[in-house]
Amino acid sequence: MRAMVYRGPYRIRVEEKDIPKIEHPNDAIVRVTRAAICGSDLHLYHGMMPDTRVGTTFGHEFIGVVHEVGSSVENLTPGDRVMVPFNIYCGTCYFCSKGLYSNCHNVNPNATAVGGMYGYSHTSGGYDGGQAEYVRVPLADVGPSIIPDWLHEEDALLMTDALSTGYFGAQLGDIVEGDTVVVLGAGPVGLFAARSAWLMGAGRVIVIDHLDYRLKMAREFAFAETTNFNQVNDIVVELKKQTDGLGADVVIDAVGAEADGNLLQHITTTKFKLQGGSPVALNWAIDAVRKGGTVSVMGAYGPLFSAVKFGDAMNKGLTIRTNQAPVKRQWPRLLEHIQAGRLSPRDIITHRIPLDDIAEGYHMFSAKLDDCIKTVITTE
Ligand SMILES: NC(=O)c1ccc[n+]([C@@H]2O[C@H](COP(=O)([O-])OP(=O)(O)OC[C@H]3O[C@@H](n4cnc5c(N)ncnc54)[C@H](O)[C@@H]3O)[C@@H](O)[C@H]2O)c1
Ligand SMILES: [Zn+2]
Ligand SMILES: [Zn+2]
Repeated sequence: MRAMVYRGPYRIRVEEKDIPKIEHPNDAIVRVTRAAICGSDLHLYHGMMPDTRVGTTFGHEFIGVVHEVGSSVENLTPGDRVMVPFNIYCGTCYFCSKGLYSNCHNVNPNATAVGGMYGYSHTSGGYDGGQAEYVRVPLADVGPSIIPDWLHEEDALLMTDALSTGYFGAQLGDIVEGDTVVVLGAGPVGLFAARSAWLMGAGRVIVIDHLDYRLKMAREFAFAETTNFNQVNDIVVELKKQTDGLGADVVIDAVGAEADGNLLQHITTTKFKLQGGSPVALNWAIDAVRKGGTVSVMGAYGPLFSAVKFGDAMNKGLTIRTNQAPVKRQWPRLLEHIQAGRLSPRDIITHRIPLDDIAEGYHMFSAKLDDCIKTVITTE
């Protein structure tokens, strides 16, 4: 089969690999029909994620058709069209039974923090991902769901990560009717978080980025007010001005460890890797939220961080909520919203490219070329 293969930072190729085999009775092999490139893939692509091994295949946002099932699989049969959440999880451990699917205790014996994820380095379990023609889906009775006939395949694809993560980000904000919600980052996760904030009762939604074409999408898709942080002196002061001097009720960080906005942080982290990543967006969130407010962190961070304004968070009495999204938990409500016509997730897709051109897709998304927001990879 053809598969995306990691060859080192900024080096991606498409190579021939063996079609994965059933390794456990509850595995399924899925023939991938659509995959996407996620902002999290960029952390791998940039060499920021520990233990990203040469030869592995990325891709944790994908849908496909069941090709083969192991002997104990009961919920799927070959031919079923499935959407597969990015989390790999057992469904029965202490954490899964509390709905913390991204913190499953049984799928990643090498780590105590992160659970299992497709195509997300050996830190996340070493599972190969779905930017390929076929993928092995462990615990096939637990994660995947059959795609309802009425659901557009691109909407199903976005349910497997970006949409569910954005919705989860808004949920963790504990939004109360009328709240002012600031979203840092107008990538797919930020756009979906901003749109979801309205569904949860927000009274105002303000999106911050430095890419004007993405802020345009924030206005049009997420009906948000927007500010370009490069066009103001100090974005925190600006946000305070916009929120009666008190700060926002909720700030959602949809940026993560590769934040721009501070040259020194950018050079010491992304370029020279002297720190685990840049705390710029997280610190803006801590500063821009009002005292007693909530910061929801969807942006991805490495394990060790310095220069986070934790003292300010403590003294402001903030609630900080965060996690990798437990994707499937969001599906019932999201399906309702899509079916009712309140949300058309695929409106944010800007590019559709064949698997053979995926290296170009990574480059374009990483360098934010051609007004790229979300790229779908087609395999047929
Ligand atoms: N928690 C989860 O389950 C989960 C799931 C998916 C993605 N993520 C993470 O969410 C983040 C966003 O993902 P994405 O797909 O939207 O990525 P993306 O790269 O498309 O979007 C990030 C956006 O942040 C903007 N940005 C950079 N610095 C900023 C700053 N200081 N303030 C405001 N905006 C800034 C960028 O210009 C970009 O538009 C990534 O860190 C990704 O790893 C987490
Ligand atoms: Zn992702
Ligand atoms: Zn579990």
